Amino acid sequence: MSEEVITHSAEETTQWGREFAKRLQAPVLVLLTGDLGSGKTTLTKGIVAGLGAAAEDEVTSPTFTLVHVYGGADAGKVYHADLYRIESFHDFETLGFEDVFAKSAVVILEWSERFPLPSPWPQLRVKLEHLGGDARRIQVT
Ligand SMILES: Nc1ncnc2c1ncn2[C@@H]1O[C@H](COP(=O)(O)OP(=O)(O)O)[C@@H](O)[C@H]1O
Ligand SMILES: [Mg+2]
Repeated sequence: MSEEVITHSAEETTQWGREFAKRLQAPVLVLLTGDLGSGKTTLTKGIVAGLGAAAEDEVTSPTFTLVHVYGGADAGKVYHADLYRIESFHDFETLGFEDVFAKSAVVILEWSERFPLPSPWPQLRVKLEHLGGDARRIQVT
């Protein structure tokens, strides 16, 4: 699959996420960057569904709850966190990532650039950009 794509609907973005999920092998960090509304949560729906950890509509923004966990023992766990509201390193520590990193998982982070994660896991960075209307550029870097 290509490293850069332009989607024209939320459905195209979730579909791309399902394909992208095929190349994810836990343990891995997926770092999502992009402005509010660029499609980070929408993309996560596709990734989580593609991994078989939950249905798309079960995946919601963790803006207020900060971390959502999907999947069980069989599918492997998927952690989805949003660092947008994390104000300090102390707040960040309360998310409990030390425990997450103790086991193998897929960790998907929105606003990952706000805090550098102390993790030796392989990382994939996905950048989302508004191109006006429903168009979004998705880049894997
Ligand atoms: N091509 C597209 N890709 C992703 N989302 C899109 C697209 N076109 C329109 N949208 C809409 O844009 C919004 C993206 O919101 P969301 O995924 O929550 O963004 P973020 O998590 O980056 O703030 C959703 O309402 C979605 O339906
Ligand atoms: Mg979001």
